[in-house]
Amino acid sequence: MIGVLVSGEGTNLQALVEAGLPITAVASNRRDAPALARASCATAAFELSEFPDRTARDRAMADWLEQQGVRLVVLAGYMHLLTPAFLERFPGAVVNVHPSLLPAFPGAHAVEEQLAAGVAESGASVHLVDEGVDSGPVLAQERVPVLDGDTPETLHERIKSVEHRLLPEVVRELCAR
Ligand code: GRF
Repeated sequence: MIGVLVSGEGTNLQALVEAGLPITAVASNRRDAPALARASCATAAFELSEFPDRTARDRAMADWLEQQGVRLVVLAGYMHLLTPAFLERFPGAVVNVHPSLLPAFPGAHAVEEQLAAGVAESGASVHLVDEGVDSGPVLAQERVPVLDGDTPETLHERIKSVEHRLLPEVVRELCAR
């Protein structure tokens, strides 16, 4: 059973849903994340301001996911770092999708930074999550070209169209293990 963590639009969540994967729970650090509305399963918000600290928030989120039967956690545009208190509950079973060819350009501004650096190629990466910023082992990666005149929006859209295929493929393989 899959749990998905989201913070934003949720187009990757939508791709996972449309791929027919067994998603039982969707959680967010933001109660107003548009992604939550795309879920037809159980949803919950764990806002940092409602807990004493990040560890307490992550423990509560892990408890809730476990209660929903989650064994594999997919970060689909989840914008907070996860603490050890969360990761130790799902060892080797947390994956993330990121809009660059990791280990190049980790972090929250990867698309803008790639354009500013003038790279000719970008891409999408799916990787296992550790305590660092987009630093766990890469499971799958696919390249996309950077085109003349690209803006952060046009490049991100091109990357996302790859993410929407790559992420469900990797998640399906992990579920089959
Ligand atoms: C994706 O580009 C993902 O790689 C990054 O955040 C974006 C999330 O988009 N981590 P969405 O919320 O799935 O539309």
